[in-house]
Amino acid sequence: MRIPTRALALGLLALAFSALVLGRAQAGGSHYFAPVADSTVKEECGSCHLAFAPSMLPASSWKRMLADLKNHFGDDASLDPTVAAKITEYLVSNAADTGGRRYGDKLLRGVSATNAPLRITELPKWVKEHRKVPDWEWRHKNVRTKANCAACHTDAERGYYED
Ligand code: HEC
Ligand code: HEC
Repeated sequence: MRIPTRALALGLLALAFSALVLGRAQAGGSHYFAPVADSTVKEECGSCHLAFAPSMLPASSWKRMLADLKNHFGDDASLDPTVAAKITEYLVSNAADTGGRRYGDKLLRGVSATNAPLRITELPKWVKEHRKVPDWEWRHKNVRTKANCAACHTDAERGYYED
């Protein structure tokens, strides 16, 4: 009788512990980036690649990018102007230096928001975090491009970027 009760208590304790750790990651860790929650943005910006978290770039970057979707990294990602405006508004209000600040801060270290960088994969902090990733891994057929976050971060869709 006593042993099962104890096992149950330990089980509950373990559960509470993992909930605590998860909660902390969500509350302030640099490894959680709130994923896109808007269905239009998810659809229009998640069809060719992962819908990148708005808190990974400053507001100026999103404005610059959305103003020229016709020349989007060699692709034409043009949208109806009303849709583009709606998406801009969402990305800007959740950007690293506005609503998403809590999460974006660290990734934006060393970046001047006025530079409006267009690539997350060129932010100094991103480059630093990935300096140990060997060349062959980037070229692997399941990866192919640095922008393919989900190939290595299996939980990227949900906003988690542990290795
Ligand atoms: C027609 C396909 C297509 C659509 C739609 C599209 N993109 Fe892209 N996007 C690309 C391509 C191609 C790249 C370059 C990927 C690479 O370097 O491997 C890219 C790269 C990016 C990058 C830079 C990734 C990096 O290297 O850090 C961001 C940010 C981005 N897109 C945001 C968006 C947003 C926001 C939208 C919605 C408005 C969008 N994309 C819609 C094709 C698309
Ligand atoms: C080829 C695999 C690979 C790809 C693709 C990749 N990453 Fe990573 N990423 C890693 C590894 C490995 C680490 C851990 C580095 C370390 O801890 O030394 C890492 C670390 C990180 C971290 C820091 C988290 C931590 O635990 O310190 C963030 C944030 C991150 N990546 C975001 C991204 C984003 C955003 C993309 C896509 C634009 C991306 N990564 C693409 C492999 C990858």
